[in-house]
Amino acid sequence: MNHPKAIVHLDRLARNYKILSNSVNGKRIMAVVKANAYGHGAIECSKTLEDKGCDFFSVFTVEEAKELRSAGLKSDILILSKLEKESIQTAIDNDLIVNISSIDDLDSIISFLEKNGLSPRFHMKIETGMNRLGFDLSDISLSIGKLLDYKNLNCEGIYTHYATSDEGDLSYAHLQRKRFEQALKIANEMGYTFKYKHISNSGGLLNELSSNTNLLRLGILLYGIYPSKEVEKKYVLEPVLEFKAPIVDYRKTQKGAMVSYGGLYTTKKDTTIGIIQCGFADGFPRPWFEKGYVFYNGKSFKIAGRVCMDQFMVDFENEIPKIGDEVLIYGSDGKDCISVETIANAINTSPYTITTALKKRTNWVFKK
Ligand SMILES: Cc1ncc(COP(=O)(O)O)c(C=O)c1O
Repeated sequence: MNHPKAIVHLDRLARNYKILSNSVNGKRIMAVVKANAYGHGAIECSKTLEDKGCDFFSVFTVEEAKELRSAGLKSDILILSKLEKESIQTAIDNDLIVNISSIDDLDSIISFLEKNGLSPRFHMKIETGMNRLGFDLSDISLSIGKLLDYKNLNCEGIYTHYATSDEGDLSYAHLQRKRFEQALKIANEMGYTFKYKHISNSGGLLNELSSNTNLLRLGILLYGIYPSKEVEKKYVLEPVLEFKAPIVDYRKTQKGAMVSYGGLYTTKKDTTIGIIQCGFADGFPRPWFEKGYVFYNGKSFKIAGRVCMDQFMVDFENEIPKIGDEVLIYGSDGKDCISVETIANAINTSPYTITTALKKRTNWVFKK
């Protein structure tokens, strides 16, 4: 069947995990596997990581967490999205950890506790500069007071999230860290301590922004991708995902032929145009056509013209492609490599948007 193919190299994921876990000074790693593990396959990636000793995961939605539990994952799972009251019982039933990010959220947990005699496990998220979810610093003492009043509340952690940890200028990240430390100080002075304190994502690890914490939430580095071009490539990580698509046809064209919508690509000589079955509806990064290329038989060939919804064309020049063969769109097949970072830089986007864009029609193949 002619579908794009996402080959997920679980052995590379395991090696990346090993490198990263050796670099966090004994702190615990929470593997961020939300959004289908950034497009890599949440169940298979989580199971591989759990086998290698990772025992903490985070996802965005309750559904994502339930999917991992149903697949047999035993580890801790934190749900990062805004608390939904209706999900508190589900969290308890599935031993999931919920995110509490306001006094209202905390009150919902307290009401549940008063009514049912049970509290879900939860982490408190503090707002320090993202202006997304989180307790304002001015609400910290009130919330700690409540945690002290209700001894059966199952609060296990406190955390915040950096907005700029992968940028060259880290002054805002330092400000965020200061604000987080202020929250910890208030809790400490009130006699409350948290089992887990976490602040760093991949950028935080690379830029050593994790002091005073004992857990890191790592996503993109695990998948062998660096979060931005401004960070130092400190570790030798391998891209976990190899994205390919089949050549379904080709045609001989003469010099001067216009290829694809808008006729933006004109052949410079008589050539062979291959038709690849993968388009922007499959998550192919559409703007990549301008500077883009694919690998085939160890050589790179230019993408010819605009990427269509379901197909794109490649200028194979003198090469006669074999129908049914695949071209490498990104990742590494062991010989050739087109990094996600290369594409992201060329089209001025974030590497996070590339692998998370993969869609249903893709066949995922997991390599151990
Ligand atoms: C709250 C939170 N923590 C951690 C991460 C992981 O970040 P990274 O992939 O940069 O490691 C994310 C990713 O979006 C996040 O939203």
